Amino acid sequence: MCGIVGYVGAQDAAPILIEGLGRLEYRGYDSAGMALAGKSGLKVRKVSGRVADLAADLPARFKGAPGIGHTRWATHGEPTQENAHPHTDTAGRVAVVHNGIIENADELRAKLVADGVEFASQTDTEIVAHLIAAAFAAGASDLEQAVRQALRQCVGAYGLAVLDAENPDRIVVARNGSPVLLGIGEKEMFVASDVAALIGHTRQVVYLDDGELASVTATGYRTFTLDARTTAKSPSTIDWDVVGAEIGDNAHFLIKEINEQPRTIARALSGRIDERFSTAHLGGLNMTVREAREIKRVTILGCGTACYAGELGAQLIEDLARVPATAEPASEFRYRNPVVDPNTLYVAVSQSGETIDTLAAVQELQRKGGRVIGIVNVVGSTIARQVDGGIYLHAGPEMSVAATKSFTSTVTAFALLALHLGRIRDLAPEQGRRIIAGLQMLPEQVTEILAQSDAIADIAKEIAQSNSVMFVGRRRGWPVAREGAQKLKEVSYVHAEAYPSAELKHGPLALISPEMPTVAVVPDDDLLDKNTSTLSEIKARKGPVVAMAHRELSTDIADRTLVVPRNEPELDPILMSIPLQLLAYHAAVVLGRDVDKPRNLAKSVTVE
Ligand code: F6R
Repeated sequence: MCGIVGYVGAQDAAPILIEGLGRLEYRGYDSAGMALAGKSGLKVRKVSGRVADLAADLPARFKGAPGIGHTRWATHGEPTQENAHPHTDTAGRVAVVHNGIIENADELRAKLVADGVEFASQTDTEIVAHLIAAAFAAGASDLEQAVRQALRQCVGAYGLAVLDAENPDRIVVARNGSPVLLGIGEKEMFVASDVAALIGHTRQVVYLDDGELASVTATGYRTFTLDARTTAKSPSTIDWDVVGAEIGDNAHFLIKEINEQPRTIARALSGRIDERFSTAHLGGLNMTVREAREIKRVTILGCGTACYAGELGAQLIEDLARVPATAEPASEFRYRNPVVDPNTLYVAVSQSGETIDTLAAVQELQRKGGRVIGIVNVVGSTIARQVDGGIYLHAGPEMSVAATKSFTSTVTAFALLALHLGRIRDLAPEQGRRIIAGLQMLPEQVTEILAQSDAIADIAKEIAQSNSVMFVGRRRGWPVAREGAQKLKEVSYVHAEAYPSAELKHGPLALISPEMPTVAVVPDDDLLDKNTSTLSEIKARKGPVVAMAHRELSTDIADRTLVVPRNEPELDPILMSIPLQLLAYHAAVVLGRDVDKPRNLAKSVTVE
């Protein structure tokens, strides 16, 4: 949510910042801005709009370095030009870009106003600029000290970068609850809130920890704490490539990422299958066999799509490892004073590794002695570093706001975890072999489904004309239905409801009419009869039905069937979810939506 990028070195910062902000735009896209520091002071430019609008607005003389830039998802104050970052102090000496929320903003603002400060915006970030200026006025000898003094007064979450016209050789950054990383170049350095901004420039990065600051010049960096203690850091290498973060010939990142799934699922499996012992190797779990055998329950936490993937994960774990497992929204978990049990394995699921609600749940669990592992895509992200072990998805950058490839990779990772736990408990070797064979078939079967994109686009035209769509499924089909409804809502803005099929009779059947289509998940399993009788009930109310099934269904119960290849029942949900992603994508395209950047949303929700 919001993106920060900064550059210090011999090149002009503006093009580098525009490129970096473009890569971060999925984090927030309602306003953008940048500042440069040079001998002639600070230059600031900002727009209400997108990074492309900012690029178009930059005058030819907007040259120099260092510079900082920001793309915003509004929290305090509307997405106007005044509220866009960077924010400066009254004298225009200091510029600040900020992600997060300063919780005691009202109190600090009142104090500053009482001291005669006039504010130019409604943001909490501007407060930080004035506090830094006040620290200089009170005698702070350098930028680092002024920033430390300012931040000691701030309560809340921040990832921020500061430029000072009087110290135009450096950027000072700080982190508390919102990510900041440094990118190491050849006689140049970068700062960013997200690794995606840096991948065109360097693979060597340093992640700041909460409570840490860094002073970054072209030739190096120094990290320290709010009370001026120097900290030691070592760089990490990132494995993402530029291609993964670029749209290439694709119309949208969303379709690019949907189409990547044969490869991303293969990468989630790569090196983790042990055919000899019919199990999965998950070295990152940091858990001995004995510890794994002592697990009595599994509780999975995540938000939105990550939670739905977790619901499928819970079913996989119960099915294969016979350990009771549940999934719940991380955003609710921490508000109910959860009972934390030492024999429960807690699993935090997060593509970005930065979702604040999931992170807070992890921290609450750890405070109470819970063992938490993560299923995370972004290497080095906050949740990945906070947990006690875990599984990386290796799905590459997910740039579209709507999660797709991370969903299928997460469920694949859960299948590996369930297999691993099952094989050290009581899953028979032939059952392990059955799951492994199923997992290995997935990439090819996903490719088969992707080839049906045009047929799905036809159905999407009809769906796009509806005011509301019902999604239903039973057992493993139920999380798939929930995820299908979520995808349709967020990218096409067509209202969708998801219900467990058997719940329809308990109320929502009243909604069914010729105007409300139902999308049904109907695998060819032991529940087929029950699922088809639900469809008959819908048809009896003249509700149009589109079914995801393993074979063509009679037109008496489904107007359209999308035939999905058959895998093992435990793994079918991965395949069933893919037509639903395509359905949402094509509906959004038909309706002319901003597919990769749906209104009001941003990738990675780092505010509560
Ligand atoms: C939906 C979507 C969101 C995210 C959720 C959690 O398409 O993308 O529901 O799944 O915000 O995000 P992560 O997985 O980054 O924690």
